[in-house]
Amino acid sequence: MSNSLVVAPSLLAADFTRLAEEVEAVQKAGADWLHIDIMDGHFVPNLSFGPLVVDKFGKGPLPLDVHLMVTNPNDFLEPLQKLGAHSMIVHEEACVHLQRQLHAIRQHGMLAGVALNPSTPPEFLEYLKEDVDLVLVMTVNPGFGGQAFLSSMLPKIRRIREMVGPRPRISADGGVGADNAVELVRAGADVLVAGSSVFGKKDYAAAISALRSAG
Ligand code: DX5
Ligand code: ZN
Repeated sequence: MSNSLVVAPSLLAADFTRLAEEVEAVQKAGADWLHIDIMDGHFVPNLSFGPLVVDKFGKGPLPLDVHLMVTNPNDFLEPLQKLGAHSMIVHEEACVHLQRQLHAIRQHGMLAGVALNPSTPPEFLEYLKEDVDLVLVMTVNPGFGGQAFLSSMLPKIRRIREMVGPRPRISADGGVGADNAVELVRAGADVLVAGSSVFGKKDYAAAISALRSAG
C-alpha cells in the first residue's frame, strides 16, 4: 500500500512581512504540511530563518516539515523538538554519523528525514532503510527558491523508491510545480514541496489542487 500524496508549501517563498497570514492562508487553501527551510550561510550560501521565527510567526495547525540546510544539524534536535516539528530532515552531506543522527531524531519524537543534493548518489540508503522515515531528493541545488527543476532527478527518485520500498516517504524539493508533479509521483515521490508554485500564485487553493491532482 502506498502513502497518500502530501502537498507541502515551502515558507521560503512566502511574504516574510506577513508570515502568520501566509501560513494561515496555505492552511485554509488545503496544504497538508508546511515546509520550513532553515539555512545557516555555511552549508548553503544563504540565510533564512530559525526555530525562533517559526515559533513566533509560522506556527499553526499544519505539521512542520523542517529541512535543515546547515553544517551542524544536531544543534537543532532540541529546538525542533520544543517547536513540535513533525519531521527533521538533515543533509547526508552534512552528517558524518548519519545513522546515529537519524536514530536521535526518532528518539526526539520526530520523523527522521535525510536529504540528498543532486550530485549525491543514493546508494548509502541501502544500509539505512530501517532508519529513515523520509528521503528528500533535492531537485535543484539547495539554498534558493525559484530555480529550474532538474529532470535528471526523476530516475534517481525511481531508484530510491526501488531501494527503500513503499514505507518511507520520498519528497521532491525544488522547482516542483503542476508541470512536473505527475512525473514525480509516477517516479515514486509522495511529498511535493512547492515554494514559488504555491506562494508565487494568486490563488493558493488552485495551486495546491493542481499539485494534488497528480496523485
Ligand atoms: C531550496 C529549498 C526549497 C525551496 C523550494 O533550497 O529547499 O524548499 O523553498 O522553492 P521552489 O519551489 O521555489 O523551487
Ligand atoms: Zn526545502
